[in-house]
Amino acid sequence: MVGAVDHASDPLFEVGNAAMGSGKLPASDDDWLNVQYHAYQMVALGTAMQVPGTGPKDVEWTSAPTWKTWSEQISGIGMEMLQLVEKKDTAGFVGAGDRLVAACEGCHKEFKPEIPTMNILHRPTAATAPKP
Ligand code: HEC
Repeated sequence: MVGAVDHASDPLFEVGNAAMGSGKLPASDDDWLNVQYHAYQMVALGTAMQVPGTGPKDVEWTSAPTWKTWSEQISGIGMEMLQLVEKKDTAGFVGAGDRLVAACEGCHKEFKPEIPTMNILHRPTAATAPKP
């Protein structure tokens, strides 16, 4: 979740933020390719998140119908972002980014425990990463 979804989302949010005047807009083909990679990841991760992994709550979470709804939303927004990349529509990333945040937060409000179940934070460190 954090290692994938959170990290895939950062470069996508950055385009919307830059379009609002904070940060650097994608300019080169490489910049856009980087945005496109992360949008593809968001599409795929929305599906991957529906498959339970090794987390203690995974089976419970992934079997809830609303988990599927939130996951499908992040895939759908990833698809929209792919189209925005085609058009190099940076302004479109503002609204799409807002909808993405709403989907992240909607799912968190419903499912995310106060304390991460697997001790995974935004930037895992050797000390906090789950032991193999
Ligand atoms: C389908 C549900 C769902 C969606 C959608 C979702 N998350 Fe999460 N997220 C969770 C759950 C559940 C946890 C807690 C995992 C745990 O404790 O094992 C979590 C944990 C996190 C954490 C760990 C830090 C913390 O506060 O515990 C971050 C960061 C995070 N999510 C970012 C995001 C971002 C960014 C998005 C959207 C791009 C997103 N998530 C979308 C369910 C979701």
